[in-house]
Amino acid sequence: MNLTINDLAVFTNGSSNKKPIVFVHGFPLDHFMWDKQVDFLSDDYYCVRYDIRGLGNSPAGDGQFTMESFVDDLESVVVDLKLNKPVLCGLSMGGYISLRALERMQDKFSAVILFDTRSEADANEGKLKRAAGIKRINAEGLAPFTKDFITNCYGEYYKQNYKTEIDKRILKSSQFDPAGVKGSLLAMLGRNDTTGYLNKINIPALVICGEQDVLTPPEVMKSMAEKINGAEFIVIKNSGHLSPVENPGDVNEAVKNFLERI
Ligand code: MLT
Repeated sequence: MNLTINDLAVFTNGSSNKKPIVFVHGFPLDHFMWDKQVDFLSDDYYCVRYDIRGLGNSPAGDGQFTMESFVDDLESVVVDLKLNKPVLCGLSMGGYISLRALERMQDKFSAVILFDTRSEADANEGKLKRAAGIKRINAEGLAPFTKDFITNCYGEYYKQNYKTEIDKRILKSSQFDPAGVKGSLLAMLGRNDTTGYLNKINIPALVICGEQDVLTPPEVMKSMAEKINGAEFIVIKNSGHLSPVENPGDVNEAVKNFLERI
């Protein structure tokens, strides 16, 4: 079902009587990145996805976003749909949103799955890179930025074997509202560091990383997982930063095993 909640484009699959999972996508993507997980899980779970404000079908408005406003948006979806303790599942920027949401309101969630993300805030070099990205979008339009950013997300295996899918993804993201993409860059640039909260997470946690992820490499994610009590850490082969897209078979298996245990 397609819904609008708080101006956000929200997509639900499966029966609302089943256990809810909320999926929060990465940058600069949209809810479609979870297609393979939702196909696989929606017979047994109530799968809720939404496009982060300014990306996909969610309008950018004034483009002035913070990580806090992104978490407010996530909360509005959970509250509006009356989701009872959903599993929270976020990738990369969706992981930043998920980690901050746990820091603010862990009691609203029953478990968390963190894909290809990190708890640290941007260091100086990262902040300058975001600023350069905004400058580049202003000078050249969105397409060259999204092409480079998205290409860098995939691992070598996917790049060799799925060229058409990558081109389609780049084309789609290049048609987003530039104000929304720049607003997301600013929100990530200004986000807080959630590392200090990791050892206070007391819900079941699964941490998943693509073995060829150059943005949030396995050693970074392993060290994050080790700070979360009882977290399980899984490395996905033949995958870069977008493991749910690049190796959905192994990801789905890992997610299903986790969900059946909790
Ligand atoms: C993402 O996949 O959401 C981005 O890589 C996050 C980031 O740029 O930090």
